[in-house]
Amino acid sequence: MNRICQLFGIKYPIIQGGMVWCSGWRLAAAVSNAGGLGLIGAGSMRPEILQEHICKCKAATDRPFGVNVPLMYPQIEDIMQLLVDERVKIVFTSAGNPKNWTGYLKERDIKVVHVVSSSKFALKCEEAGVDAIVAEGFEAGGHNGREETTTFCLIPAVRRSTSLPLLAAGGVGTGAQMLAAFALGAEGVQIGTRFALTEESSAHPAFKQHCLDLEEGDTKLLLKKLTPARLAKGGFKTAVEEAEARGASPEELRELLGRGRAKKGIFEGDLEEGELEIGQIAALFRRQQTVAEVMNELISDYQTAREQIDIW
Ligand SMILES: Cc1cc2nc3c(=O)[nH]c(=O)nc-3n(C[C@H](O)[C@H](O)[C@H](O)COP(=O)(O)O)c2cc1C
Repeated sequence: MNRICQLFGIKYPIIQGGMVWCSGWRLAAAVSNAGGLGLIGAGSMRPEILQEHICKCKAATDRPFGVNVPLMYPQIEDIMQLLVDERVKIVFTSAGNPKNWTGYLKERDIKVVHVVSSSKFALKCEEAGVDAIVAEGFEAGGHNGREETTTFCLIPAVRRSTSLPLLAAGGVGTGAQMLAAFALGAEGVQIGTRFALTEESSAHPAFKQHCLDLEEGDTKLLLKKLTPARLAKGGFKTAVEEAEARGASPEELRELLGRGRAKKGIFEGDLEEGELEIGQIAALFRRQQTVAEVMNELISDYQTAREQIDIW
């Protein structure tokens, strides 16, 4: 049996990545109900809001689900305590050192997965004792590694450096891409962008439509002097590009970024002032679908791709 399915007790090795302002209980429960693993994205939630989402998710699915916690979260101790109190069984950590919280969670019988963008950090995960690794390439939406390593290069490198169960993320959104990821050594996939644009995602309809209208080349990895993020075209991306072109300092960029930009863009649909985080692969999708439609398509396209792959 596939190690990822076994680890989480799921039918398909498809994880819906935690995503600020997109992945509340509704999205996570829909993915879990369809046989994948849904993750609630704690990064945009105060502890009491996260608790509400966990309770609603438990009511909406009896399948396994998890919570994604970016480790730079300001009230991290409260969040970790809440996860233990609410008996969350699976936690995906990101954006921080896996050594800080893995032991704490594992001692409390929680499965831990950490997201990395290099094989150097994959080794740190192994030392920290995680159960599995997500290797996320340059194509991905959200925050990203500075080195710009693509998923195609990253997965074989991480596969070589660790024998832990491995999930590929970044530019995976179709069944054929899943097959490619498996050929490279991954045993499952973490998908963000495609799920961010589904009906069940809590992103604003204007944000979703804007992303569904994007063409190739309409997203770019920016803000490397702060925390690199892939931004879609819009007023804020233009402002950042102009600032970076004139050599803006980290302080100037921090001031330009200000506070609450991602909420403004993703949750409130402000295409001019908001930070519009989405992956390169958005250019492949043109219409909004339900999670059930996406899951069915992923699985049937994967089967078709498998049957048609023998080209020489
Ligand atoms: C809008 C958006 C918000 C995201 N927020 C988070 C987050 O809070 N924590 C995290 O670990 N990853 C976050 N990500 C990354 C996803 O979990 C996932 O790894 C990534 O989207 C996979 O690449 P893809 O966009 O090509 O599917 C975000 C991605 C998007 C598109």
